[in-house]
Amino acid sequence: MKKIILTGDRPTGKLHLGHYVGSIRKRLEMQDSKDIEKMYVMIADSQALTDNFDNPEKIRESLKEIVLDYLGCGLDPKKITFFVQSMVPELTEYTFYFLNLVTLARLERNPTVKNELQQKEFKNNIPVGFLCYPVSQAADITLFNATHIPVGVDQLPMLEQTNEIVRKFNSLYGETLVECEAILPDNENCFRLPGIDGKNKMSKSLGNCIYLADEEEEIYQKVMKMYTDPNHIKVSDPGKIEGNVVFTYLDAFQTPELFKKYCQEFYDLEELKKAYQKGGVGDIYIKKLLFNILNDILKPIRERRKEYAKDMNEVYKILKDGTNEARLVAKENLKNFKHALKIDYFE
Ligand code: TRP
Repeated sequence: MKKIILTGDRPTGKLHLGHYVGSIRKRLEMQDSKDIEKMYVMIADSQALTDNFDNPEKIRESLKEIVLDYLGCGLDPKKITFFVQSMVPELTEYTFYFLNLVTLARLERNPTVKNELQQKEFKNNIPVGFLCYPVSQAADITLFNATHIPVGVDQLPMLEQTNEIVRKFNSLYGETLVECEAILPDNENCFRLPGIDGKNKMSKSLGNCIYLADEEEEIYQKVMKMYTDPNHIKVSDPGKIEGNVVFTYLDAFQTPELFKKYCQEFYDLEELKKAYQKGGVGDIYIKKLLFNILNDILKPIRERRKEYAKDMNEVYKILKDGTNEARLVAKENLKNFKHALKIDYFE
């Protein structure tokens, strides 16, 4: 069976390096893969509104930024159908019926939601829409019969919950929906990329991001500020690798080619790590190396992004065409769904 790929992002800001290694890199690889029947990338604006309902302008602005990030990265509209979640109302219909198949307790147990609830400090005022977004995410995935979902590890609880809903639906109404599988990054260092502060994962709300659209100078400043090893004071001091963000990023972003291009003194990253641990390698040295590698990756993305930004009409047309196409599929699949639910009265 050929794969149907679907994934998406909340438009709550520009995309950053965490998105890049967590899922974009896999998407780039998959768009060229032979065993793919169809690939969708959805801008999850409705989901973004569940915790930004008081700031619709932010979502509207971010939608634009995110499409530019996609195109800048090289995600190709000829190979991928890009669409906007809120413009596919069939998703809302699926969600409404799925809500019957999930308990409140189960939603409150979802680890990602639990985390977010703690961060947001809603206390007793949790918006119902927010708590239910995993159910709407199950609709995103199943409406398109998606089989493979390239995501970061924080999304695994969503996919687990989706598959529970699928099993429940099928057992009640007959085999209709398909279960999905996560596609994680190959490199474990990319599972939860820390922010430049080294404390938390990279996240816009924590202000510790390097954005795909950042200018060279900004990237340089951010890399120079990165958390390393607080006890590595003199160049001759032995340094620690664990928890040292510069090395975490080097692990996540280097390739043997990039390493050779920007570091001639050491044979490979492992050798550099050993030297750093022994003492004699300064933080500025490793930071400059990281900056060069990151800039090598981000420069073409930034330039392509700027090229696309010159003609926003063309960019919106990509989204509009994709959304129209996604809707045709959605309408067709909704028929089967309604048939299984026995609410297709006049068919
Ligand atoms: N929850 C995802 C995120 O925060 C975005 C998303 C919405 C998504 N629907 C999806 C991801 C369906 C994969 C599949 O990044």
